[in-house]
Amino acid sequence: MKTKSIGIIDSGLGGYSFYHTLTREFPEVSFVLIADQANAPFGDKSKEELSEIANKLIDRFHKMGISLILIACNTLSASILKEMRDEFPEVELISIIDLTISQIKDSAKRILVIATTATINQKAYSKALSKSHKNAWINEVATPKLVDLIEGLANDSDIDEVLEEYLSDKSKVDTIVLGCTHYPLIKKNIEKITNANQVDALEGSIEYFNKISELPLGTSKVFTTLDAKRFAHQIKTLFNDDVAVEEIVL
Ligand code: DGL
Repeated sequence: MKTKSIGIIDSGLGGYSFYHTLTREFPEVSFVLIADQANAPFGDKSKEELSEIANKLIDRFHKMGISLILIACNTLSASILKEMRDEFPEVELISIIDLTISQIKDSAKRILVIATTATINQKAYSKALSKSHKNAWINEVATPKLVDLIEGLANDSDIDEVLEEYLSDKSKVDTIVLGCTHYPLIKKNIEKITNANQVDALEGSIEYFNKISELPLGTSKVFTTLDAKRFAHQIKTLFNDDVAVEEIVL
């Protein structure tokens, strides 16, 4: 496949987690992140609104000559992936949900999925897990307050308080699926509450790109649809990375 770069899509810092991980693992490869922070959070939006957002993002990448895109967003992957694949047959869209599920151990027996309201409403994880983990107990819980707290660089005590409420059922669980790409940023907070195995797609994304023989080489770039200074500050605070962020209008 001829693609100028690998596109990464999300509403904000969740996408940056993937950009951070992948640019370190594949330093010669060109990754382009568009963080659509003007529309964050995605998780409370209707399917129609999400379709419109995804359409604009994929179209923008398409116009940049980018035809391989990691949908680093569970909300979009759960809600509009099929529709977007029909709409853009010439673009390959990678589902973050598939990558996350690939990381769940076969031995997982009691699985809790936490994600945005839109992702939970689609039951994307329970549908997939009912095939891959037929005999497991599966519970899906919407955790809508977390994305705003993470994007707002909330302090640990505020995050811990909200997690206590969401994870009240934790004692029954051996695996927590982080069904939102923002949640790897609060792994340490979750660890304080439960020692269940936490699963995300970061490692799965490395495995995915390792299997592709010709990755596009070049420089990498970060765009936001909101405020470049703010995004650079959020990135510096959470990842200690100094990145040049550019603003983009979709
Ligand atoms: N990080 C995205 C996800 O995985 C979107 C979160 C949001 O903007 O609500 O669902």
